[in-house]
Amino acid sequence: MSAVRTINIGLCGLGTVGQGVWKHFGRMRPELESRLGARIVLRRAAVRSLSKARGVRVAASKLTGDAMAVATDPEIHIVCELIGGTGIAREVTLAALSRGKIVVSANKALICAHGAEIFAAARRNGGHFLFEASVAGGIPLIKAVREGLVANRFPRIYGILNGTCNYILTKMEELDAPYPVVLREAKRLGYAEREESLDVEGWDTAHKASILAWLAHGVWIRPEQMIVEGIERITPADFRNAAALGYGVKLLAIITRDFSTDQISVRVHPTLLRRDSVLARVSGVFNAISVTGDVVGTTLYIGRGAGQDATASAVISDIADAVALLLHGKGAHFMGEEEPPALGGAVMVPPERIRGRHYVRLTVADRPGVLARVATVMAKNRISIASVIQSPSELAGAASLVLTTHESDERSMRAALRALARLGSVREAPLHLRIGDLGD
Ligand SMILES: NC(=O)c1ccc[n+]([C@@H]2O[C@H](COP(=O)([O-])OP(=O)(O)OC[C@H]3O[C@@H](n4cnc5c(N)ncnc54)[C@H](OP(=O)(O)O)[C@@H]3O)[C@@H](O)[C@H]2O)c1
Repeated sequence: MSAVRTINIGLCGLGTVGQGVWKHFGRMRPELESRLGARIVLRRAAVRSLSKARGVRVAASKLTGDAMAVATDPEIHIVCELIGGTGIAREVTLAALSRGKIVVSANKALICAHGAEIFAAARRNGGHFLFEASVAGGIPLIKAVREGLVANRFPRIYGILNGTCNYILTKMEELDAPYPVVLREAKRLGYAEREESLDVEGWDTAHKASILAWLAHGVWIRPEQMIVEGIERITPADFRNAAALGYGVKLLAIITRDFSTDQISVRVHPTLLRRDSVLARVSGVFNAISVTGDVVGTTLYIGRGAGQDATASAVISDIADAVALLLHGKGAHFMGEEEPPALGGAVMVPPERIRGRHYVRLTVADRPGVLARVATVMAKNRISIASVIQSPSELAGAASLVLTTHESDERSMRAALRALARLGSVREAPLHLRIGDLGD
């Protein structure tokens, strides 16, 4: 009988996610060891402050202030990078991978900025980089795309990937409350960070969209190359207008590839979604993703996209995969295949050429002739208006005009928005949202 092998794990970071991993791994350890057939030891954890009080009990002998010492410790087989950011986190990741270790990461910002370098380092040195927790928290989306749906190509993946934004949008609609009020409450309840811009401006979603586009199509598309718009300018009136038109409003990442022309597009923006679609009804901090494969059709995934427990669940799943890799090699799993099929001849559609329908809310002077001037601007930019709703505005002497358009490209729409903003009768910068004719 061969001796049971011991696999040692090092955590770099013992904050929200790290403590979740420590807590749940401790609880699940007997089951995991029995299922995997190995002794699994959380050997060391690196933190910034050794004296900080923590929600989990960790022997002082297991704590260090030196993350690099954990990453390079020859006794440690699996390094969990749970520090965050792109500084020390990158150094720790590359140091572990250069030693052929397996790195488990929840760090979407790092993968988005340095993914190509990280995966190359893993391949070069026989290590592996596992990142289930980086997109959609507790939902096993990476595994679904990479393993469960391996028979497919992906014409469309879209979804709600930021729980903070979904919470804010849900509450704005439910309470008919303005963005600043709901944001304040979200911070108080711990659903939004003190510094919220990464979430509400759409960048966090863009990092995840970048990772998903790479997984599905083998190409790194940076957030700077995408349309990335946030939720800050949406008002309660926009939810009422959208509802009157049969829509809800969600911040979506949308990744499409047209296999007939081999064009790919990746974008992040608030989107009007048909109210009867499943994603339009996903509320609060939940994430939801629709993945359409050319073989399977459309599949949907809904669950907690962040938070200590959901993220720990994904990290521990990667730890289990890492243990299986160490014990059995690649075996039945695909997680060692870090490089997805290359994009081939596909090209990215420049953002200004993306086509779609639009929603525009204008605050205009409440006097005759204004609608005609607005219609002229749209016509000059070859944009056909589909519907108009006029209602009183909160601004004295003003009215709110809500237009929806037939399909046009982004370039024409942006030119029209600039021209509308210059009209003397338009009192505020136009509010522009896209209409997502996506289905589920
Ligand atoms: N929180 C979530 O819900 C969530 C969800 C999905 C993904 N993620 C990702 O998971 C990662 C960790 O997030 P988190 O929320 O757990 O962050 P966090 O609570 O801020 O924890 C960060 C940890 O890293 C430690 N640390 C910071 N600088 C260090 C250094 N130079 N050397 C050693 N340790 C250092 C901190 O030590 P101290 O404790 O001593 O300060 C802390 O334990 C990030 O990449 C994040 O994007 C988080």
